[in-house]
Amino acid sequence: KKIVVLVSGSGSNLQAIIDACHTKQINGQIVAVISNKADVYALERAKQAHIATHVINHQDYSSREAFDQMVAKQIDHYQPDLIVLAGYMRILSADFVQRYIGKMLNIHPSLLPKYPGLHTHRRAIEAGDGDHGTTVHFVTEELDGGPIVLQAKVPIFSNDEESDVIERVIAQEHQIYPLVIKWFCDNRLEMRDGKAYLDHKPI
Ligand code: GRF
Repeated sequence: KKIVVLVSGSGSNLQAIIDACHTKQINGQIVAVISNKADVYALERAKQAHIATHVINHQDYSSREAFDQMVAKQIDHYQPDLIVLAGYMRILSADFVQRYIGKMLNIHPSLLPKYPGLHTHRRAIEAGDGDHGTTVHFVTEELDGGPIVLQAKVPIFSNDEESDVIERVIAQEHQIYPLVIKWFCDNRLEMRDGKAYLDHKPI
C-alpha cells in the first residue's frame, strides 16, 4: 500500500511509521511526506529515509480551499491508498476531507471525545483528570471527531508537568499509530457509513 504522510512539526510519529515500514510491520511504503512548514524536523527524517518531500506553505495561499487544493494535487500525484496526518496542524476544508474519506487517519493527543482541539495535556491536568491518552481516528468533517479506531491511556500523576504527560502520551502514539496503519494496509480496517470496522466488526 502507498502512504502519504502530512506533517507540520518534529515528526516523531512519522519516524515510528517509517521504522514500522522498514521492519515490515507495516505492509506498505511512504511515498511522500508533505509539510505546510519549511524547516521542520519531520522533513529531515523523511530525507534521511530517502522519501520524497514537499513543502506547501499555507501562508502563500489566499484561502484554506486554495491551499488544500494544492495539497490534494500533490497527494494525487502519488495515487496513495492512505493519507496519514501525523502532527499536521491545519484544519481541513470540507472538499479535502470528502476527497479522501475512508482513506485518511489522524492521531489526536486525548481520549476523544474528550478534549478536541489544542493544548489537550494542559487541559487534562487543569481538570484534575487521573488519566489522559491518545486516539487514532478516521478523519471526517468534524474536527477531531471521526470514528475512533484505537486509543491508549496513560496516567496523570499529581506532580506531573505538562511535559511529563506529553512524553508519556507520545510514547503510546508511537505504538498505536503504526499498529492501526498496519491494520489498514492489511485490509483489516475500513470506514463505512461513518463507522469504523476492524475485521468487519464495528469498533
Ligand atoms: C502528536 O502528539 C499528535 O498527537 C499531535 O501532534 C503531535 C505530533 O508530534 N497531533 P510529532 O510531530 O509526531 O512528533
